[in-house]
Amino acid sequence: MTALLEVRGLSVSYGGLRALKDVSFSVAPGECFVLLGANGAGKTSLLRCIGGLVRPVAGAISGNGLSLLGLRPSAIAHRGIAHVPEGRRVFPHLSVFENLSVSWLRRPGGPTLPDAVERIYGMFPRLAERRHQLAGTLSGGEQQALAIGRGLMNSPSLLMLDEPSLGLAPVITRQVFSQLNSIRESGIALLLVEQNASSLDLATRGLVLANGSVALAGSRDNLRDSAFVRRAYLGL
Ligand SMILES: Nc1ncnc2c1ncn2[C@@H]1O[C@H](COP(=O)(O)OP(=O)(O)OP(=O)(O)O)[C@@H](O)[C@H]1O
Ligand SMILES: [Mg+2]
Repeated sequence: MTALLEVRGLSVSYGGLRALKDVSFSVAPGECFVLLGANGAGKTSLLRCIGGLVRPVAGAISGNGLSLLGLRPSAIAHRGIAHVPEGRRVFPHLSVFENLSVSWLRRPGGPTLPDAVERIYGMFPRLAERRHQLAGTLSGGEQQALAIGRGLMNSPSLLMLDEPSLGLAPVITRQVFSQLNSIRESGIALLLVEQNASSLDLATRGLVLANGSVALAGSRDNLRDSAFVRRAYLGL
């Protein structure tokens, strides 16, 4: 089966600083691929590179067998890859409805804006209740739901999420992970970047990034049982 996303030998530099070195992995349809890494490991650089926001110095990225290199972020979104950025980045002075609306892409045969928004309200009833509220007045968990809802507006085949649990209380993190699991069960593949190793509960496969390189890769159980993950992420 062709991979939804294939990353081969990817390297990213900022001036003299090498943020990613020779990173390779692939994500199959319906998977939840978890990318664990400590602060500064290169997780955000990797997602921004896939999303077309950063250019790699080497390597290849393809979606459904077609190269994504050099495409604008909007073209990558049109290819079915959505990016929920680090720190949620909702527009605080826009309402929930307006935040969802700005993410909508007009596509031939695609849903209308009202239909796309109603679909998100169906998945996140709290957002429906708060549709006219300014996003800046939502709780952290609600803002994360809004950021995820924006990512889902164009029915992606792959949803990339950059540390959705960041800054959330453990009980809210569990809710967010449970929403992500439902999204995956609905057939949308996830590329989930986290420092929180409980994200492995959702994973099919994954890898650990350390200093920009792949330190470890494998199935969920391989990762969870590894001495490296147990020591560095599970405190065991
Ligand atoms: N725009 C930039 N210009 C220069 N250096 C950068 C830039 N963005 C990231 N870096 C550096 O690249 C390295 C990787 O950063 P990146 O943000 O990708 O890591 P991360 O794993 O997402 O970290 P965090 O967990 O803190 O979000 C770090 O050393 C960082 O300081
Ligand atoms: Mg980051």
